[in-house]
Amino acid sequence: MIEEAPKPKVVVLISGNGSNLQALIDNLGTEIPADIVCVISNRPDAAGLDRAKNASIHTRVIDHADFEQRELFDAALIREIDKHAADLIVLAGFMRILSNDFVRRYQGRLLNIHPSLLPKYPGLSTHQRALDAKDKKHGVTVHFVIPELDAGPNIIQAEVPVLKQDDAESLANRVQKQEYVIYPIAVKWFVEGRLQLHGDRALLDQEVLPESGLYLDSPHTLH
Ligand code: GRF
Repeated sequence: MIEEAPKPKVVVLISGNGSNLQALIDNLGTEIPADIVCVISNRPDAAGLDRAKNASIHTRVIDHADFEQRELFDAALIREIDKHAADLIVLAGFMRILSNDFVRRYQGRLLNIHPSLLPKYPGLSTHQRALDAKDKKHGVTVHFVIPELDAGPNIIQAEVPVLKQDDAESLANRVQKQEYVIYPIAVKWFVEGRLQLHGDRALLDQEVLPESGLYLDSPHTLH
């Protein structure tokens, strides 16, 4: 009997709803040849925990409120992640800033999704900021995480139009639909060994990606 090669192990960090986690779960086995070995939430009430349980994925709550210092919280995260020998750590709506030590430990195998066309609008309230600036387009970026917040080399971006009647919620909903497309693509590339961090740029199939990352047109044509 030929034994199957072990699949890459992915740990997903969440804080809330977990709809991006769901998009990854939905693509496991078909599009994404990997196992999600653990979902860690820093909030005990995160709805994403139920999504993981429904998919029979191991969950763990590490509540940041139980720790007096960021470094101690991060150390607890590290202990849990390393228990699973994770090949890739995916931040999916994880709302804590990670210490430099944490980021350096996993740099090159730590991905994040940020709801703006980075480098525009790092940080919070990105949809409102795009509206306030009267931007005509807005979007979302998957990037490698580096110590500087929301600044890592971009991997993929997807753009959406900003419509006259938009408020932050309607714009966020339009952006989220693109999130569920581009995050699974980036994770698939990584676990297939096609995606690497090289200095301050991302490489796909050994080719340096543009600074914006690859650009996804709807529906789903990558440039
Ligand atoms: C997403 O909008 C993502 O871009 C941002 O946080 C949100 C998480 O949503 N980083 P969900 O928990 O995946 O539903």
